[in-house]
Amino acid sequence: MSRVSEIMDSMDYGPSVEDSAAVRDWLAARGSFGHFIDGAFTEAGRTFATRDPSTGETLAQVSQGGDDDVARAVRAARKAQPKWERLGGTGRARYLYALARHVQKRERFLSVLETLDNGKPIRESRDIDIPLVARHFYHHAGWAELRDSAFPGHGPLGVCGQIIPWNFPLLMLAWKIAPALAAGNTVVLKPAEYTPLTALAFAEICAEIGLPAGVVNIVTGDGATGAALVAAEVDKIAFTGSTEVGRDIAGRLAGRGTRLTLELGGKSHFVVMPDADLDAAVEGVVDSIWFNPGQVCCAGSRILVAEAVADRFEDLLRARMARLRVGAPLDKSTDIGAIVDPVQKDRILSICRAATDAGAELVGGQPGEGCFIAPGYLRNIAPANPGMEQEIFGPIATLSTFRTADEAVELANNTRYGLAGSVWSESAAIATDIAARIRAGVIWINCANVFDAAAPFGGYRESGFGREGGRAGMRDYLAAPQPRPVKEKPAQAPVLMPGDTAARGAGIDRTAKLYVGGAQKRPDGGATYAVPGGLAPLGNRKDIRNAVEAAAKAGKWAAMGGHARAQVLYYIAENLSARADEFARRTSRAEVDAAIARAFHYAAWADKFDGGNVQARPGHLLNVIPEPFGVMAIACPNGQPLAGFMSLVMPAIAMGNSVVAIPAQDDPLPVADLYQVFDTSDLPGGVVNIVTGPKDDLALTAAAHDGVAAMWYVGHRDGLAAVERAAGGNLKPVWSPGNRDWTSAEAQGEDFLHHAAQVKTIWLPYGA
Ligand code: NAI
Repeated sequence: MSRVSEIMDSMDYGPSVEDSAAVRDWLAARGSFGHFIDGAFTEAGRTFATRDPSTGETLAQVSQGGDDDVARAVRAARKAQPKWERLGGTGRARYLYALARHVQKRERFLSVLETLDNGKPIRESRDIDIPLVARHFYHHAGWAELRDSAFPGHGPLGVCGQIIPWNFPLLMLAWKIAPALAAGNTVVLKPAEYTPLTALAFAEICAEIGLPAGVVNIVTGDGATGAALVAAEVDKIAFTGSTEVGRDIAGRLAGRGTRLTLELGGKSHFVVMPDADLDAAVEGVVDSIWFNPGQVCCAGSRILVAEAVADRFEDLLRARMARLRVGAPLDKSTDIGAIVDPVQKDRILSICRAATDAGAELVGGQPGEGCFIAPGYLRNIAPANPGMEQEIFGPIATLSTFRTADEAVELANNTRYGLAGSVWSESAAIATDIAARIRAGVIWINCANVFDAAAPFGGYRESGFGREGGRAGMRDYLAAPQPRPVKEKPAQAPVLMPGDTAARGAGIDRTAKLYVGGAQKRPDGGATYAVPGGLAPLGNRKDIRNAVEAAAKAGKWAAMGGHARAQVLYYIAENLSARADEFARRTSRAEVDAAIARAFHYAAWADKFDGGNVQARPGHLLNVIPEPFGVMAIACPNGQPLAGFMSLVMPAIAMGNSVVAIPAQDDPLPVADLYQVFDTSDLPGGVVNIVTGPKDDLALTAAAHDGVAAMWYVGHRDGLAAVERAAGGNLKPVWSPGNRDWTSAEAQGEDFLHHAAQVKTIWLPYGA
């Protein structure tokens, strides 16, 4: 008789393959797929094959959507939208519940279909993807019901074009469609060319539940179809995919007035502190980089481990890695399935080759037959190694070490991305400190890749902007109440003056300076231009760059906290009140009153514009925190100089940003008078920097500057288009509040604060 321990040793997994007969019957019955437009499938047109990447077998033929298909889908969505909105929250909620239920009823079918088309292990599609899809529709059914009370005065945007990637095909569809529909929009969605099948199955569910025709339209195809959707008459584009395509889309939408959210790539860190539970952290790596074979935008692809525990951690990691099973995705005991397509496999291998050529050592990571790659990691890797910088998007992590917490934070932040990160420490004080200092949209403490419909998800910097999930995600599918538009006074060409002396001779009463780093500065070029009441400095690119540098040094402003910032804003309000008569002589009394009101109003908000603790999953504290962008650039309206400036700059600094502001080009002196008010109100130097001069040129320099994290622009269409184009290059969000009466109540409120912050989501599991 064998002893139990011998049985355990010799026992191996037997294959346990999920039955795919029902899915194959479904595919056979459908033949070739057309698009789903206006509630019905079209005839298949020009088609391409979608394959099972684990075997190369063709699963189905799907249609390549052309401009006409996209245009028809957008028309159907446009026609359906008003009726969909008129259904009201409860009416829309009923459909969203029905979608959730029907997804749940087909969980097994959808999991198998997803696994066949994408190659991910059935364990993942069954236990993670598809249950989250249902959860998304349930959660957003609730938002449909609550829209009007939770977002008073808000309405739908109209028609949303949505472009999704192949790594979580149905889940990304749910992330896009559920909030859009809840908000009252209709959609045209383009799934990725590698993985269109679950979207088509979802279209059948839409038809089955009787979703009104045109509310959801699915057009399949490749990047060209996506580009056609971007070019179409839509009110919003929501894109998830590569940073390159995101940048291209941002450029194409410049000046179109189309809303945009981008969820792009990442190179997220996985920080293991010396006091971490190392076994748990190793499991975390499995969930982080070897989940969905590393084809995850928020994968913890850069493992940073404290030197003191690095050897032990690596031993555990190697041992665990060796036990991961690479194999048939439909086998329930497979850990690592197939890479989605041979193209992606080659891409992963070529980055690994470049990394090893540059001196890194690859442990594991061998390519198998077909689309398989074993899990692995790169060690001895220098910071500038391509494997360290590029998103590998495969099951290969990097492993490097650090000595101190400060070094860990510095390494974690040393990336152009800012999507997510994971921190492992048994000390809540250490873990939360690091989470707070890392510049990324999602931080998982002692966990990794946990998602929920209530948890906002999205990036900082080149990982994109906008959020999906929860309240923040809903807001990105809603239009805020619109103020009455006021046409902006076109700026006059600056009339250059030779210098101060000549100006004085001309009877001009004062020459203003720039305000940079808390001090009055002469402009770089030394030139001034004539403005009402005197001369203003003609700022140039160099002045903007200096101002950005000064603003970047004012980072402590954010760390001071809302209470301290509120006090400074109150002080500004008081000092401005004390000099109200003097200011009123330069502008109108209404402007001065509005300026004072703005300082008081945003002082009040500074310590109250909170996030919240969100109920996502039991056993998790989920903190959603609005964080400042860092340096913001603000191009102010050309009219109402004082009220316009204060209406924009006060909310931005209340949230902890530092600002480079370009005041009204034609009449900047009322703003120049504020320098003294700021100086006497304890506003730290560099929090507000002011560069006068040709607004559009200066705004363009700020928009293109890598050190500026977000941009607001009030002005004419062409100026905005140019700013959006320049800002698209480094993926900074641009908000155009629209010109309005800056002395009215419409010039203040929460909408300004929302645009002055980006949401960070921190997951903290609890329990012994
Ligand atoms: P991709 O960005 O080309 O594809 C994503 C989606 O965009 C697909 O639906 C595609 O058809 C569409 N698309 C492509 N070009 C377009 C265009 N010009 N206009 C509009 N839509 C367009 O990503 P791809 O080529 O599939 O993967 C390349 C790399 O991108 C991956 O290795 C990975 O590094 C990154 N990626 C990141 C994702 C994420 O979730 N952040 C998802 C997919 C890819």
